[in-house]
Amino acid sequence: MSLPSRVKLVDVGPRDGLQNEKAAVPAAVKIELVHRLQDAGLREIEVTSFVSPKWVPQMADNAEVMAGVQRKAGVRYSVLTPNMQGFEAALKSHPDEIVVFGAASEAFSQRNINCSIAESIERFRPVVAAALANGIRVRGAMSCTVGCPYEGDVAPERVDMLAGLMQDIGVQHIGVADTIGVGTPIKVRRAMEATLKHYDIDDVSGHFHDTYGQALANTLISLEMGVWQFDTSVAGLGGCPYAKGATGNVASEDVVYMLHGMGIETGIDLDSLIDAGKFISDVLKRDPQSRVAKAMLSKRQG
Ligand code: HMG
Ligand code: MG
Repeated sequence: MSLPSRVKLVDVGPRDGLQNEKAAVPAAVKIELVHRLQDAGLREIEVTSFVSPKWVPQMADNAEVMAGVQRKAGVRYSVLTPNMQGFEAALKSHPDEIVVFGAASEAFSQRNINCSIAESIERFRPVVAAALANGIRVRGAMSCTVGCPYEGDVAPERVDMLAGLMQDIGVQHIGVADTIGVGTPIKVRRAMEATLKHYDIDDVSGHFHDTYGQALANTLISLEMGVWQFDTSVAGLGGCPYAKGATGNVASEDVVYMLHGMGIETGIDLDSLIDAGKFISDVLKRDPQSRVAKAMLSKRQG
């Protein structure tokens, strides 16, 4: 078993996490969260999404949040763009990377972005071309790679097909998402293997929601395959408004603790990350959804 010696985490909390909050979170709080994450050592942060405010009102302050972030050298700021309208709006905010997001399940594609998988690829095609022409990196997210809230189990062949389509239109990096956290390690390995038919190991990341408590195990099996990039969410924030019952991404704190405990570097300071998670959890009036944060916060109180 050979594990990567260094792992890159993308904190998606400000986007994936806060897109799902019922109570409005002020832009100033989102900006402060991004600042705390970059100060904790995160080198990529998914800040917001340029989607329809009718669909996801939580992200309607996208431009304001992007404008308020004091950028740090060496940090990549990414945003979601589902179509040209979103890309054109995002361009004014100068993201370093945009994310097009498709699904391996037809039903989820319809519910999430109101079109079929094939139509979504046609919408992404000009977005990818425009981003690359503007020197902006392009990541693709593949939802429901192991299970779908509407269709149930998703076969690896679906992932194979979607990853191939993403590769065809020029998506540079691909994320394998377990949107509703139903995956178990062997299923996740199969979804990764299907993706690796089209992408190099250095261009693949894992994005695991932790609804069923499997995300760390799914992270570990991916690490064993050589995957070294993961999306995680500070304080375990998150979910998807179009995936009922799905909880947050695996907590960044839990993944950092596991990796550091295995001697794998992340460049992240766990204590500062826990402070960032405590900050946003206090605003949301709840405890951080990270076992590590809970344990370490109670230890701090002695
Ligand atoms: P639509 O209704 O089919 O779009 O929505 P349309 O092109 O027909 O336009 C309808 C209206 O939306 C028009 O406004 C457009 O101007 C507006 P109206 O004339 O009615 O006033 N519109 C937009 N406004 C702002 N920004 C835009 C935009 N596009 C159209 N970009 C659309 C299609 C994709 C826009 C919609 O379905 C949508 O916004 N969906 C977003 C869903 C979403 O954000 N989901 C969560 C993120 S994905 C996720 O969490 C999964 C991930 O974490 C991985 C995983 O875990 O699986 C990434
Ligand atoms: Mg997600």
